[in-house]
Amino acid sequence: MGNMKYFHYKNGQLYGDNVSLTKIAKLIGTPFYCYCANAIIDRCNELKEAFSDIDVLIAYALKANSNQAIISLIGKQGFGADIVSLGELERAKRANIDGKKIIFSGVGKSEEELERALNLDIFCFNIESEAELIRLNNIAKKMGKIAPVSVRINPDIDAKTHAKISTGKSENKFGIPYKDALNIYKKIADNKNLNAIGIDMHIGSQILDLKPFENAFTLMEQLIISLRNEGHNISHFDVGGGLGIAHGQDEKEPDIRQYAKIIRRLSKKLDIKIILEPGRWLVGNSGALITKVEYIKNGANKNFIIVNAGMNDLLRPTLYEAHHDIWPILEVKNHNKMTADIVGPICETGDYMAQARLLAKVEQNDLIAIMNAGAYGAVMASNYNSRGLVAEILIYNDRFDIIRERQNIDELIRADKVPNWIK
Ligand code: LLP
Repeated sequence: MGNMKYFHYKNGQLYGDNVSLTKIAKLIGTPFYCYCANAIIDRCNELKEAFSDIDVLIAYALKANSNQAIISLIGKQGFGADIVSLGELERAKRANIDGKKIIFSGVGKSEEELERALNLDIFCFNIESEAELIRLNNIAKKMGKIAPVSVRINPDIDAKTHAKISTGKSENKFGIPYKDALNIYKKIADNKNLNAIGIDMHIGSQILDLKPFENAFTLMEQLIISLRNEGHNISHFDVGGGLGIAHGQDEKEPDIRQYAKIIRRLSKKLDIKIILEPGRWLVGNSGALITKVEYIKNGANKNFIIVNAGMNDLLRPTLYEAHHDIWPILEVKNHNKMTADIVGPICETGDYMAQARLLAKVEQNDLIAIMNAGAYGAVMASNYNSRGLVAEILIYNDRFDIIRERQNIDELIRADKVPNWIK
């Protein structure tokens, strides 16, 4: 397993780097997310190395994990940011990410968002519709600015991933149909406050097979040539994110060097700058969600391990049938196994972390780790069932820091206002 290096057993206990997870649990309680900084730094270096001889901007997709500490750590490695909201823009700014390294993606950018991003002179707007193009031109005109843009093309390619995270098929809401591309670039050229500088795609997330990327790149290559023939100055190709990680033993990660090789060929042939928007690949395997077994219950046909983390803390198993490995915090010596559903305390049948999972026998009050939860874990959490957001911890060698306090219930309730007429 890719993350064995960062999460490993020492003296019978699970450690993140050189810190005992039991020790953290004793101090701050459970559940909590913890991330190993070294896992993230290593991934950043691996990616930089694979692309070292390519003219590239790596824009971390903040949505995967937008904790300020994580953004700052990745920014410190020289990376930019791929953002999709005003909130993410402000987060990138506060983590000192240079506007010149910020890409703005997303289908629904508001006027306020476009204005703020223009003010910060970001590198590029990835436009997803004609209506957005018109709105952006109008705002830029009012501000006396020229907006740098790319158009996100929908290449109608099946990324062979879960339907809810596939974005590059014609039935998905994303991008502009391939056949309309020349037309839309013509329109951009007619709008004086827009400047087309690149082209963009993103076909989906958690993609383990490089073939869909290759197929999409081939289509995009033809389009870039046609656009240049029409006189458009396409100086960069944003290939999006989407590289998957192994969430368990059955999955195999794509080879990053192979991915870089495919892109290198393209970049040299077209003499074009490359933008990458990786999210999950950088942070996914750095993190785990640590939770406590509240009860073991033997149902009519199944065993249930009821833990104190629920679908509001980690939605992926419920929403995408995602597999996450589950490791006990105490190393199991006697190899006793049990098959069980690992479920949370939320009042929903869909509230599970794993189903029919064979795992080491655990007992009430034991701690377990839900692995590979560094991406799309904490960021997708909610307050459902009035549960406060859990704490987040960053481990670095033998130190650890709280990078987000556990949300307190009082704070949660205080946000609501009861009108006087009810009181
Ligand atoms: N660029 C764009 C335009 C995107 O929409 C996304 C992800 C990325 C980059 C980063 O993709 P990554 O490298 O992380 O695959 N919540 C889902 C994943 C949703 C991804 C949405 N877009 C999950 O937990 O699997």
